[in-house]
This record gives sequence, structure tokens and C-alpha cells, in this order.
Amino acid sequence: MTDMERLPSFNGEFAPIAYRDGGIDLLDQTKLPGQVQMLRITQVSGVAEAIRHMRVRGAPAIGITAAYGLVLAADNGDEIIPAAGSLRATRPTAVNLTWAIERMLAIFRGHKDKPLLDLRAALLTEAHRIHAEDIGANRCMGRHGAELLPPGATVLTICNTGALATGGYGTAYGVLRAAHEQGRLELVYACETRPFLQGARLTAWELKKDEIPFRLIVDSAAAYIMSAGKIDAVLAGADRIAQNGDSANKIGTYCLGVLAHHHGIPLYVVAPRSTIDTTIASGEEIPIEERPGQEITAPFGINIAPADTPTWNPAFDVTPASLIAAIVTETGVHRPPYRLTGKER
Ligand code: MRU
Repeated sequence: MTDMERLPSFNGEFAPIAYRDGGIDLLDQTKLPGQVQMLRITQVSGVAEAIRHMRVRGAPAIGITAAYGLVLAADNGDEIIPAAGSLRATRPTAVNLTWAIERMLAIFRGHKDKPLLDLRAALLTEAHRIHAEDIGANRCMGRHGAELLPPGATVLTICNTGALATGGYGTAYGVLRAAHEQGRLELVYACETRPFLQGARLTAWELKKDEIPFRLIVDSAAAYIMSAGKIDAVLAGADRIAQNGDSANKIGTYCLGVLAHHHGIPLYVVAPRSTIDTTIASGEEIPIEERPGQEITAPFGINIAPADTPTWNPAFDVTPASLIAAIVTETGVHRPPYRLTGKER
């Protein structure tokens, strides 16, 4: 079997996560693109480690992984509430993590007086449902988003929003896939996405796998490429969207929003409703994760800055709604002024 044939799948879709026989099979994204290495995780602590160290990453993907993590907790007879707390504490910005854990806890509460085997089965059913719904949402977003693109579109994107970042298919990347399937996508420019290089390592890997024409660019080439008139739209995912449409996504997305606005290019944010935080009015309330400075000074173990260089490494930024031409969810294309409740039809 080749590396590619060993990739996990769910509902016929390549997926970075699969639950099988009391364990989670996880594609270790820190090893891509060099190695396609599967991890077998059987303990909640291993799930938390994998999310924290970004072996699995992307807002929907970490939510789904945490959901399966709570199935493991039941498999192992662990206390569910502390297990949920340890998973929730791994990464603060993506609301999908909390959202998925809350769905699992609702099942737990509903089965308090039932036998452990029933609880375990119900948790697994709910985790599979969360996973399947995510793929379904992605396919819908793909269709809605592709309609926003002109025929022969050239699109700029950031980070990785593909199958790797989700339950399968992708969000902003799913729009690229759908547009490619419809023959209306000419070229993708993928920002490398410093410092963790999700664009260079992961999006480029997926674009190659899916045979979508692309060029990898350094993040700082974005302004120049827009000024050259080469970009029809910017597509980005999101980790948390406030009611007013302010959207947190990978650091650098705000920068692209400012640039796109300056050049008259639409920025579309593509995310499932599970990314909408209905409890917050604006982006000011979004917690922004700060990651270790070594990601900047010594990416992937290679020192590129003097020893003890001080750093600041926010992993996300918030793009104000005023810079977002539309937010695409599974229910359709939402235009400003945004009043997102998570129940849009
Ligand atoms: O730090 P990461 O790699 O988890 O950040 C991921 C992103 O910013 C994605 O754009 C976002 O989670 C949406 S993924 C469908």
C-alpha cells in the first residue's frame, strides 16, 4: 500500500481523523509533507497533546478530534467532565472546539443514569454525527462559495482550510475544490503562512494531491500580486466569528483583508455555523492564542535568529467585518451588515 492509500477516510472523503476500535487514527500534520505518518491515540492525554502541538489543527478538525477524544474517555472509564476540561484547555481561539465538546457533554448529561455501555455508544454516535455534519456543511459551502467566483478565477488563500483542517473536504479550500470541479478555477495563490507554514506544508500538499493548479508565494508577496491585478478574490477560513461578522483566523488574514480592500478585491470568509460564537457581539471578545517564540526563531528546529531573541507570536488575528465582502456558511452567502445568530437560513 502506498502512503496515499493509507490515508484515513470518513463517508468516502479523505479525513485527517478516524475513530476505530477504541482509538483515534490521526494523520500527524507536523510531519507533512515529508512523511505521511499515522498516529494511533488511545488516551485523552494523547488527544490533548496532539491538538496542543498541532498534529491535528484547523478549527473544525480539532472539534471533531476532541469529540472522539471524549469517546476514548468513556472507553477508558475516565471521568468525562475533567477529560472535557483538559481538551477544552488545549487551544483557545477556535470556538468549534468548545462547540463540539458542549455537544458531547449534552449527550453525557442525558445518559447520567444509564449504563456506561449506552453512554459510550451514544457518545460515539454523536461524534460520528458531528464529523458527518462537518463534511456535509463543507460541501454546501463549496457550492455556495464557488458561485461567488468569476469563470477562470484566480484566488489567493491563506493557511490550510482543506480536508486536513476539517472533517473532510475543507471550508475555504472546499470552495476552491468545488470551483475546480466546475472548471471555473484557473489558479490558486497559496500564502506560505509564517511561522508554522500551514500554506507551504499543508495547502500545497492538498493542492498537489487534488491536482489544482497553484503557486506558493511568501506572505509578503500578497500586496504586490494584488496590485498586479492578478487576484479575483481572497478566500479565508475562520476560527471564531462574532455576531457582527468580525472573524478570527490565522495571523495574516487581517493583513490580507486590508490589502484586498485597498485593491477592490473581495475577501470571502468561509466557515460552518459551528464557527459562529453566538455569545459574543464583536471580535474584541475573541481570545487570541499566543504560541511559543521558537516557532519564529527556530522553525522546525532550524535556528534562524540569534539565541534568546525576544518574540511575540500571536497565532490569529481578527479581521473586522467591514473588510469582509461575504461570509459563506452551509446555509448560504451572508452579506453585511452581519447579524449572525448561528441559525441563519
Ligand atoms: O493554527 P491553525 O493551523 O489551527 O489555524 C487554522 C486556521 O486558521 C484555519 O484557517 C481555520 O481554523 C479554519 S480551518 C477550516
